[in-house]
Amino acid sequence: MATVAEEATVPAEKPAPPQEEVSKEAPESHEQPTPAPEAEPEEHQHHVLEAESTDESNTSDFDYDSLYGTDEEGASATTSLSDSVRNYRYENGRRYHAYKAGAWVFPNDEIQLEQMDLFHHIFMLRLKGKLFLAPIEHPQKIMDVGTGTGIWAMQVAEEFEGAAVMGNDLSPVQPTWVPPNILFEVDDFNEPWLHTPESYDFIHSRDLHMAVDDWTNFVGQVYEKLKPGGWYESQEHTVEITSDDGSVPEDNVLKAWVRGLEKISDLIKKDCHPHKYIDQKMKDAGFINLHKEYFKLPIGTWPQSKVDKEIGAFNLVNMLEAAEGFTLKGFTEILGWEVPVVQKMIVDIRKNLKKKDFHMYFRFCVIYGQKPE
Ligand SMILES: C[S@@+](CC[C@H](N)C(=O)[O-])C[C@H]1O[C@@H](n2cnc3c(N)ncnc32)[C@H](O)[C@@H]1O
Repeated sequence: MATVAEEATVPAEKPAPPQEEVSKEAPESHEQPTPAPEAEPEEHQHHVLEAESTDESNTSDFDYDSLYGTDEEGASATTSLSDSVRNYRYENGRRYHAYKAGAWVFPNDEIQLEQMDLFHHIFMLRLKGKLFLAPIEHPQKIMDVGTGTGIWAMQVAEEFEGAAVMGNDLSPVQPTWVPPNILFEVDDFNEPWLHTPESYDFIHSRDLHMAVDDWTNFVGQVYEKLKPGGWYESQEHTVEITSDDGSVPEDNVLKAWVRGLEKISDLIKKDCHPHKYIDQKMKDAGFINLHKEYFKLPIGTWPQSKVDKEIGAFNLVNMLEAAEGFTLKGFTEILGWEVPVVQKMIVDIRKNLKKKDFHMYFRFCVIYGQKPE
């Protein structure tokens, strides 16, 4: 496996537009010169980021090449991380991934990465500190598909020090100073997975709605890469803003926001409600011992219970941070709205998220199942 490429020269990040104000005039363009799209490599290859280890004595006990298959000529499908995957795109003050540019409609800049880590904290609070609910014991190889900042993967690597952990994503945004038993790859999970079949004990994915082209195919790839007896766990938060007492009116901008996101997901053909059927797809693929559970994630401090109030408080900050990143690219590029109109909507969304009389929440769905022995 080759070593990590030198730091790519990435254009300096522009500050994000003001969070709560929209200029009445058309905003100055924050667009950075977008480099010409990279030619697709002729063959589908991973880009592997070799990490620095937090353990100085580490001599890498893990044979990561054994996690990958080889092509027909026996050549490894793994390459070092090239500059092209760091050649990020900039639009309206936000940064987007470079590898397979446009495949993911949400930013990969610091604002979004902080928001993802906050979301992780919220999920952990909801699951009472557990990274997963599947009954996993002594896993040797674990994969986190669409790992984002890698926070889940890094924590699972700490929990199972003897396991080799692989985190996959389109964006090489994960830290390089990580536990010694973890590796990150840049690859598109909608392409055939190059990992060795039947090599993983546990595969996890979280929040991949609006990212997966075909969930039958995705679940099939998970099944193929799991060892007999291995487990897959899907964790998805739902795309809805609802209330049990009807306190969020149907004509509120929050409902319009969700309808817009649903429309975007239809247009890009990447479903935003896969929690509805991932368990059925798993059953069809051959998984057994299926379990599905929903949890409420309140937004705001309206709940009575202490833990829900705490989750709600974090989730309010999370949603305020996420509002721009979740909205800008999809509403402008996919729905064709003007940037100032979308900016105005984001301000309205933030105002309404803060309404104390909206007893709003969305849900978090955990599904797991086992490949038969
Ligand atoms: C909402 S984030 C979730 C990140 C992480 N799983 C978590 O829960 O913190 C979705 C992630 O999927 C990645 N992603 C989207 N499409 C992808 C694809 N086709 N192949 C690999 N990663 C992808 C994005 O770059 C992003 O980091």
